[in-house]
Formats: sequence, C-alpha cells, structure tokens
Amino acid sequence: MTTKIAFIGFGGVGQTLAKLLYEKKDEFFKKYDLDFEVVAVSDVMKGSLYNPNGLNVSRLIETINKTGNLKAYSDESGLVRGMDSLETIKKSNADVIVEVTFTDVETGQPAIDHCKAAFKEGKSVVTTNKGPVALAYRELSKLAKENNAYWGFEGTVMSGTPALRLPLVTLAGNKIKEIRGILNGTTNYMITEMEKGCSYEEALKKAQNLGYAEADPTSDVDGFDARYKATILANYVMNTELKANDIPCVGIRNITNEKVSEALRENKVWRLIAKIKGDENGQVKASVQPELIEINDPLAGVSGATNAIVYECDLAGSIMLTGPGAGLTETAYSLLIDLLHFKNQ
Ligand code: HSE
Repeated sequence: MTTKIAFIGFGGVGQTLAKLLYEKKDEFFKKYDLDFEVVAVSDVMKGSLYNPNGLNVSRLIETINKTGNLKAYSDESGLVRGMDSLETIKKSNADVIVEVTFTDVETGQPAIDHCKAAFKEGKSVVTTNKGPVALAYRELSKLAKENNAYWGFEGTVMSGTPALRLPLVTLAGNKIKEIRGILNGTTNYMITEMEKGCSYEEALKKAQNLGYAEADPTSDVDGFDARYKATILANYVMNTELKANDIPCVGIRNITNEKVSEALRENKVWRLIAKIKGDENGQVKASVQPELIEINDPLAGVSGATNAIVYECDLAGSIMLTGPGAGLTETAYSLLIDLLHFKNQ
C-alpha cells in the first residue's frame, strides 16, 4: 500500500529526502516493499501545495531550483495551493508528516504544535527537530500512543548515525549504565582546528562556512545543542525524566590555544563531553562540559565534525559508535530510517 507523505518545511533536508525517495523508488519498493507518495509540501518561505493524488517530486525540486519557491509549480488536476502547516497536517490525506521546519529550540515551536496536531489526527510524524523531543518528549509520546500514531526522531542525535536505535534496538536486553559522547560537530571541529594552530575565532568562522554551526552558533559554542541531545538520550534511551535545564552545561568559550597546546604536551586533549550516568539507586545525572581526556580514551581520537558516543552496557560492555552528526544526506537518511520503521511497525 502506498504511504502518503506531507512535508512540513521544505529546506535542504526535506528536499534531499524527497529526492532520495524519488530516485530510489524502484529499489526501495523491491527491497522493502516501500511505496511513498508526496501529497503535500508546506513551507513558510517557499509556499504550499497539496494534491491528494500526489505531487510530482521532480517538478517540485526543479521549480525550487529555478525560482526558489513553489509558485511556478504548474497547475495539475486536484492541486490546492496556500494551505498553512496546521491546515496541511489536519486536512491533507497524508499518513505521515515529515516535520523539518526551522524550529526555535528554546520553545520547541512550531514543531511541538505540528506534532500535537498530527497525533490528534492519528497521523504519524518523523522529524529531525530536537526541540519537541528535548522539551516535550513525555507529553508527545503519550499523545502519539493514545492516537496509535508513530513518532520517529532518530536524526535528533547524530543525524543518520543511529545513536538512538543502536542502544534500544540492537543492544536490546542491556542496561545502559552510562553514556558519554561528543555530540556537537561544530565545537569538536573547532577544538581540533585549534589543536592545529587556528585561533578560536578562525575556527568558528571555518565551522560556519562549512555549514556545521547552527544559525546562531551560541547554541553550539555554549553547549546548548549538546545539552538538548543529552536530554533526548536521558529521556529516551535511559528512560528518566530529565529536563534540559537540569543538566549543568559549560561550553567551549574558555578553551584557548594555550590550554589546547598544554594538554597535547601532556598527552591529553580537550573534548566537549556530554555525560549521562545512572547511580545504584537508578538516579540519572547528566552534564555537558569540556573535559581533559587521556590520549588513549576512545573519544580522544574523534576529530573534526565527527560525533561519537560510548554506551557502557551491563552485558555487552563498552560499545562505541562514531559517524557524522550533521549533513543534508545524512540527516535525510535518518528520516528514511524512521520511515522504514514506520512502514514495518
Ligand atoms: N550544529 C550541530 C553540530 C548540527 O554542530 O553538531 C547538528 O545538530
């Protein structure tokens, strides 16, 4: 059966996923019995289109590439223009909403309202937005469950590197005692550039030019981005009710070239480490801060924008996962993982 998709937000990640589903349509159908149709796109900047019979993805992408928005998408039978995000979620015939809007991580909006609206309609959501998961995980997962809807958010931590499914699905049966990770690519890139002699400002500029940093890099350098990811890991993987504000957070502003060089002379490196640890009484505590770690620590070898995470498992031992934590294809891929699981649930 064909699964109908609505894109809420249609920036780089959404477009990359749409292209991926279109270009690999035959392969996904043969391999996974997966047949998707894009029925709606609603984007505050680019405009909105809805066709219950399906939109033409190659024409969507072509129109955006040529004109920057969706106005010039030619008329076709059944086409409706101009529905806003909530109307699209409520009124379209989509089964699953791909929520990839630009979201304010401090309020989680508008993504939280998009998820709520979808779940109330019994529609499923896949998203890469950290806000709804970091700020409203309990409320939204309850709402999804009550309405038999699926909620996938693999890409919120380490994009397409499966930091959430690895501990819960692949390592099922273990008790995860501790999680330590490098969860922010920008700051790790900056620190390793500083190890090569770059100044803090130069390293930040380079990270911004390479597209690693958030629109407001404060979220990266002050550790807030890593703190949201630690909140998601604490709630979802370690099943504890920890709020972002409960996690002490120090960023990398005080890391200087002198400190970095001095550490290297002592066979150590600075890394921005997110840590989530449970004690014997089951109480979970978390922190995000720069830590001076020995050169033979598995996280010390992680350089550039790469992310890494170590799960301390009671049965499987210490398991490390490393890979990209950002990137258009990688993030679009994380949504594909969720769509595959949605299809197979
Ligand atoms: N700015 C983030 C990072 C992007 O540098 O890791 C992915 O969340």
